[in-house]
Amino acid sequence: MAKTLDFKALLRPGILKARPYSPGKPVAEVQRELGLDSVVKLASNENPEGPLPAVLAAITRAAKDINRYPDAACYALTERLAAHLDVTPDSLIFGNGSNEVIDILIRALVSPGENVVFSEHSFIVYALATQVHFESGIAVPLGAGDRHDLPAMAAAVNDKTKLVIICNPNNPTGTYNTAAELDTFLAAVPDHVIVALDEAYYEYVTAADYPQTLALRVAHPNLVILRTFSKIHSLAGLRVGYGVGHPDLVGELHKTREPFNVNLLSQAAAIACLDNWDEVAGRRDRNRQQLDWVTAELQSLGLETVPSQTNFVLVRGSVNAGQLAADLLQKGVIVRPMHAFGLGDGAMRISIGLPAENQRCLAALKEILN
Ligand SMILES: Cc1ncc(COP(=O)(O)O)c(C=O)c1O
Repeated sequence: MAKTLDFKALLRPGILKARPYSPGKPVAEVQRELGLDSVVKLASNENPEGPLPAVLAAITRAAKDINRYPDAACYALTERLAAHLDVTPDSLIFGNGSNEVIDILIRALVSPGENVVFSEHSFIVYALATQVHFESGIAVPLGAGDRHDLPAMAAAVNDKTKLVIICNPNNPTGTYNTAAELDTFLAAVPDHVIVALDEAYYEYVTAADYPQTLALRVAHPNLVILRTFSKIHSLAGLRVGYGVGHPDLVGELHKTREPFNVNLLSQAAAIACLDNWDEVAGRRDRNRQQLDWVTAELQSLGLETVPSQTNFVLVRGSVNAGQLAADLLQKGVIVRPMHAFGLGDGAMRISIGLPAENQRCLAALKEILN
């Protein structure tokens, strides 16, 4: 007789209540389930253009060393990025994706009974990581235009708040808060509350009044800026992101990460991305051109869209978006229904793909809606 054990009794209450992260469906899974030859994935805000040849060459060169552990300090990558951003190397911490840096911040800062403030409809990992560790997230409703209500977020900060996370531009809405709005917010939040600005889509932004936050760290040492190589740099599969913060804080954060949290191939690939920074502008422009096209086409179908500064667009409104996403899936187009983001049936998120992928998505939508 196999022994039984009540594992639930062993786990922290927060873990039992947490819902697992549900990622966009992988292409191979949809092909297998629906018997489709060709599937387009517009569900995880990845860069459809793929890695640069120089990045692939760097990975190939590095591959001969994978019998060795990677550099635990990410020395070469740190020096290279510090020079690129014009920050000191001791302001940088890398993670297995910026996702890990979010997790590190929560683990390092928040004790039981303390809380983290974020927006209700924002990147789900904030709520998930908070709940798994401490069950104490304060989710503030979005304001007008599906943008963060920064005054309400500042007002939600209380004497137990250790961390505020602002996703700018926001996933899943694609909206952004301006430099002036952020200034007002930062003036209202006490210095002992760490403010993490998640700028995963930073390189896609074209709005002139979007905040340039690295310079704000002098006046606001409580700022931590999070960015990633997963989006415009096309390294989502390798997992490398980073945080920029005050060296006194970053030095402590390093203690809480796994020693070898960024693998050898990822470090080499990220350096190659920085060596080829010139490619970013073209990637941003091509995304913007397709984003504008997709948005206009969605609107011509009578769908309501939220203005986006990212590589995705949120469809909102009276349509049954959950059903639309399911119908699109049947036609081999994976988009992201928004139930996990708390937006129910009233919204779905479409990532911007290559022109042919976007055309296929729109053609499928037209067929479904007509
Ligand atoms: C707002 C936001 N932050 C962080 C991440 C995580 O990115 P990474 O791949 O660097 O872990 C994502 C990924 O979708 C995101 O949308």
